[in-house]
Amino acid sequence: MNLLLICTVFLVKEILAASDSQHQSLVASSTEPTIAKRNKRDTFPSDVTTTIPQIYKMHVRSNVSNRFAHTDITSRVKNIATKPQEATFSIILPETAFISGFIMEVGGKNYTAYVKEKEEAKKHYDQAVARGLAAAHVAVSARDSNRFTVSVNIEPETKAAFYFSYEELLKREDGHYEHIINLHPGQPVKDLSVEVLISESRKIVDLRAPPLRSGNEIGGNKGDLDPRADLKIINHKTAIVKFNPSIERQKQLAHVLDTKENEGLAGQFVVQYDVERDPNGGEVLIQDGYFVHFFAPTELAPLPKHVVFVLDTSSSMYGQKIEQLKEAMHKILEQLHNNDLFSLVEFNTNVKVWDLNDAASSVWYPTGNENYNYRNEGDEVSFEGFEFPRTSLVNPDNIKKAKDTVSQLVATGGTDIHTALRVGLHLVELAKNQKIDEVNRQPIIVFLTDGEPTVRLRSTVEISNKISEYNVGSRRSPIFALSFGTGADRDFLQKLALRNSGFSKHIYDAADAALQLEDFYRQISSPLLANVTFKYEPMVTSLTKTEFPIHFGGSEIVISGWCGTNLIKPPVIDGWGVRGRLFLKPAVIERSVSNVERLWAYMQIKQLLEKKETADKDKEEIKKKALELALKYSFVTPVSSLVVVKPNATSAVDTQAATG
Ligand SMILES: *[C@@H]1O[C@H](CO)[C@@H](O)[C@H](O)[C@H]1NC(C)=O
Ligand SMILES: *[C@@H]1O[C@H](CO)[C@@H](O)[C@H](O)[C@H]1NC(C)=O
Ligand SMILES: *[C@@H]1O[C@H](CO)[C@@H](O)[C@H](O)[C@H]1NC(C)=O
Ligand SMILES: *[C@@H]1O[C@H](CO)[C@@H](O)[C@H](O)[C@H]1NC(C)=O
Repeated sequence: MNLLLICTVFLVKEILAASDSQHQSLVASSTEPTIAKRNKRDTFPSDVTTTIPQIYKMHVRSNVSNRFAHTDITSRVKNIATKPQEATFSIILPETAFISGFIMEVGGKNYTAYVKEKEEAKKHYDQAVARGLAAAHVAVSARDSNRFTVSVNIEPETKAAFYFSYEELLKREDGHYEHIINLHPGQPVKDLSVEVLISESRKIVDLRAPPLRSGNEIGGNKGDLDPRADLKIINHKTAIVKFNPSIERQKQLAHVLDTKENEGLAGQFVVQYDVERDPNGGEVLIQDGYFVHFFAPTELAPLPKHVVFVLDTSSSMYGQKIEQLKEAMHKILEQLHNNDLFSLVEFNTNVKVWDLNDAASSVWYPTGNENYNYRNEGDEVSFEGFEFPRTSLVNPDNIKKAKDTVSQLVATGGTDIHTALRVGLHLVELAKNQKIDEVNRQPIIVFLTDGEPTVRLRSTVEISNKISEYNVGSRRSPIFALSFGTGADRDFLQKLALRNSGFSKHIYDAADAALQLEDFYRQISSPLLANVTFKYEPMVTSLTKTEFPIHFGGSEIVISGWCGTNLIKPPVIDGWGVRGRLFLKPAVIERSVSNVERLWAYMQIKQLLEKKETADKDKEEIKKKALELALKYSFVTPVSSLVVVKPNATSAVDTQAATG
């Protein structure tokens, strides 16, 4: 009773200050980045280290079942001070994850958050944000992540607990799945443990816990960061990985990770593994009417390809960025396979198609020469009359010439994104018409920019529409877009890539940018199949995407749907490989697996949200469907929000991009 009274007094003050007294709930935004707000909040004082409530226990438990990971975090805090204090619970979670639950236990009572439609909750949210967050943030950032923060007041000598969960489908990249767990309690924790339980329907192979990462640099395989995790294969399909660093070890690791010892461990614990798989059609798993189909054929030779590099050399690339691009291109060029074709295009105010044999014969389009004056804005100049250099075949001699060419790149001028992409697609068509040999090569456009369009066509919507229109017939190519640094329009590039059968990747402007670029290229360096279509029997419904213009070695295609009690006929996979058209069938159909329905819901929502971004029409309809699923399965998504019933004196709940 006494405690409650103190609590109430505090509440009154809190509310007066906030003028938010009618609302008993606060809203966590979706996992959408809210960068502007972060800046505002970062100006709050960060003198939290004095007697902040102590986190005496933090347990992270992940269950990974058939690549679908459910992670639970429990954090217990105690206010050891003699006055009420604010405890901040801050979690970094992967960008691809959906939050699926949150409970605060304060004063012996549980406050359970629930998922609500975004618009409905928006009013509350704005008010919560307007109040700002008094609690300081732990200065941690991590790439491709979001941060969830909540602060709550706790009475002297009392405890509070936070229970948080999120779910995600692990993606296969470079031949393995990677499960990343961000740890940043902000202080050394007496009882800190991570436990990852993996259960797969096929044999687990290559299970590893690589060195801890800071979350901001990749590569740095410092031996000192070996988590010394405990890896246990229970039976060949089940494994447990445990990480249980003592306070001393947390401080040591903090030191190696360049954070202050008294701020504790701040880094990423990573678990990697792969599974033994069917070499051809993959596996189908069924549970309660839902099925999931994993496909990553292992015995296919890579398709020959034509890679068109379209690289931004506008003035904003000047300095470190262009040097990093050159460094990465040197490595990437070495990875091209013999008998692939490649083209080098740079763009700034105009677009230059390089002639590797004779730089002087390189062609500037549309001006015909290196001339910063340009014709009318938005003017599309016909390609007629332009003799573009022949596309180069990959051989040691040409790779050497290409490296010399890349070394000569100079950053200057504006950014004409539309013309650059048009030229890239045009080169694909030219190479097809050149008939260099009888080989049918898979075209791939690698497009890198660090800026927004500043020359000729500047509307990103129009650029996107025009490129989709132009990317057809013998020009048809997937476009892989790299947004380099903070000046690039990430959203636009993401949508552009999605609409053109590719994907995008953000390259963080940091010391390891060249490594990030190489890592990205590795993902698309081995196309194995083109025009892959999955055909299921007609009774199968609620399918996720079944058509894939291109499948890369090292990755995995996942399809999920509803098949009722059974699949009578196995699905057929139709695709084009090195030796022409082929049909594959999955070998295994397994039952008694778990999580398939949630995996299905997760994928449906993800794909609906992507569709909503790229669709020309029916956006509202698509959004409604995504929202329905998000509410039904309790996922916090860009169309739904997490509402936390406010214990008296909770200050705010928010998620935001965790990239620094
Ligand atoms: C993880 O799986 C184990 C065994 O199947 C189960 O006991 C446990 O409750 C699960 N935990 C979570 C967080 O789902
Ligand atoms: C609050 O919820 C957590 C997680 O579900 C549970 O472990 C705990 O016992 C609950 N506490 C109370 C007071 O109900
Ligand atoms: C894939 O399909 C497109 C159009 O349907 C076609 O132009 C292309 O040649 C096909 N690719 C392969 C490798 O068959
Ligand atoms: C908050 O405090 C008020 C008293 O001012 C009380 O009536 C109310 O039940 C409390 N709310 C919660 C969620 O504990």
